[in-house]
Amino acid sequence: MSLPTNKTVAVVGAGAMGQGIAQVAAEAGHPVLLFDAADGQAAAAAERLGRVFARLVEKGKRTQADADAVLKRVTPVATLEDLAPAALIVEAVVERLDVKQEVFGKLEEICGADAILATNTSSLSITAIARPLKRPARVVGMHFFNPAPLLPLVEVVSGLSTDPEVADLVFDTAAAWGKSPVFATSTPGFIVNRVARPFYGEGLRIVEEGAADPATVDACIRDAGGFRMGPFELMDLIGNDVNYSVSAAVFEAFSYDPRYRPSVLQKEMADGGLLGRKSGRGWYDYAQEAERPEPPEAETADIAPPDAAILLGEPGPWSALFERLAEAGLQIERQEDDCLFPLLDFGPVILCPTDGAHAESIAEAEGKPAIVMDLALDWTKAGRIALARSSNCPAEDFARVAALFQAAGMKVSPVEDVPGLIVARTAAMLMNEACDALYKGVSDPEGIDTAMKKGVNYPIGPLAWADRLGHARVLEILDNLCDSYREERYRPCALWRRLPEVLQFREE
Ligand SMILES: NC(=O)c1ccc[n+]([C@@H]2O[C@H](COP(=O)([O-])OP(=O)(O)OC[C@H]3O[C@@H](n4cnc5c(N)ncnc54)[C@H](O)[C@@H]3O)[C@@H](O)[C@H]2O)c1
Repeated sequence: MSLPTNKTVAVVGAGAMGQGIAQVAAEAGHPVLLFDAADGQAAAAAERLGRVFARLVEKGKRTQADADAVLKRVTPVATLEDLAPAALIVEAVVERLDVKQEVFGKLEEICGADAILATNTSSLSITAIARPLKRPARVVGMHFFNPAPLLPLVEVVSGLSTDPEVADLVFDTAAAWGKSPVFATSTPGFIVNRVARPFYGEGLRIVEEGAADPATVDACIRDAGGFRMGPFELMDLIGNDVNYSVSAAVFEAFSYDPRYRPSVLQKEMADGGLLGRKSGRGWYDYAQEAERPEPPEAETADIAPPDAAILLGEPGPWSALFERLAEAGLQIERQEDDCLFPLLDFGPVILCPTDGAHAESIAEAEGKPAIVMDLALDWTKAGRIALARSSNCPAEDFARVAALFQAAGMKVSPVEDVPGLIVARTAAMLMNEACDALYKGVSDPEGIDTAMKKGVNYPIGPLAWADRLGHARVLEILDNLCDSYREERYRPCALWRRLPEVLQFREE
């Protein structure tokens, strides 16, 4: 059951988030009271909303009558006591535990006993915010994403004391407001800010290891991974300082679990003022005359691609790739094999999808020079692929295989022999984090995937992607990454070993 629209919603804190949340609630039909501790800030936010709606009317996205009706429902107020009639209070004040506790402590005295105290905190524990209150069961997280009117995700976060009926009502209310709510438990980073960490973290590691430059990582994540933006362009948009401090906060909140260790390189960027777009320079230069560096590509001029290969094993998720290679002129002869990852044998060299091991180890195991290829989300659309080779693979053989991918319409990014290359490694670590969130009961598979798609625009939920790739392959990639680095960071979640019996994630 959602909050009836005749019930008043109060928004405390009229900054970037508070203003957006007030807009969403008022558009849904509620009377909205807006309060801010800074003099004139609530009135200023109401004025800004006036300008937002004037633009929406100008662009034909709202009628004048609708805009007038929405704006009439928003009332800036001067004191906290004015919020007494509110049935739902959404707090969006500064991110400080003591301030949030104090605000809710006062509101408990002012508002009705059944009023819901929702907090928009991004990182604080809901349980801790509720602790000093008389009615901690009324406190719940209602985590909007910025900008609140545009981004559909709302994480509805329960602390240890939250009454499930309160969480249900907030969930249904967010849905009635046109949002895509998901349930989460009060754990560090909730869903999105926890599961997304490897998206930045693995890109940073690849660059730190000198395996590829930011432009190559971004291009592979976009063109093969299907993401709208690569990690480095996204870090530049968010700001390296902000992105680093979220990573550092999650690391600390998980008692310094090495899986969340922030990047030394990113800290250096933040400390050096290379913040990204807002400072004019980050991973890229944003000066007017600056040109975006193009990722280096494999040089294959005048080199003929191989015309035949033996395919060992089941094509599985790589079927569409082999079809593309066949259309580009490669004759493929199938041979049965029970290998987990299919392998193309060209004679002098083999080509295989990365299983998280170095090309060097694959070459040693197979007794032949190896070229390892990265993962793509959708092989019918992939416009680029990263390839690495073992040290005994001749440059001409590498160039011939690269020419084959080019003939099939893909750009080729040659990278150093880094375990798991770029997309497979990032995706496997996102899947691992999503799996761990599932294992620890942070949310259900649908909630986790919805959060990543609606909150940060992922092209597919990490768990649905794991279904597509096959859980045994994901586990193999993680196991090999873990062996390659001998680092706790890459330890696979225990649930991978039980998943086939426990559940199948849902494909959309
Ligand atoms: N900005 C984001 O991207 C984002 C996204 C999701 C959640 N959040 C969370 O939302 C909250 C607000 O963030 P923001 O970006 O809107 O901050 P902001 O700095 O833009 O706004 C905070 C507002 O709260 C007011 N305020 C401070 N103390 C107050 C008090 N005791 N009583 C009433 N008003 C008070 C300030 O005057 C200010 O106007 C934080 O908890 C933040 O973590 C932010």
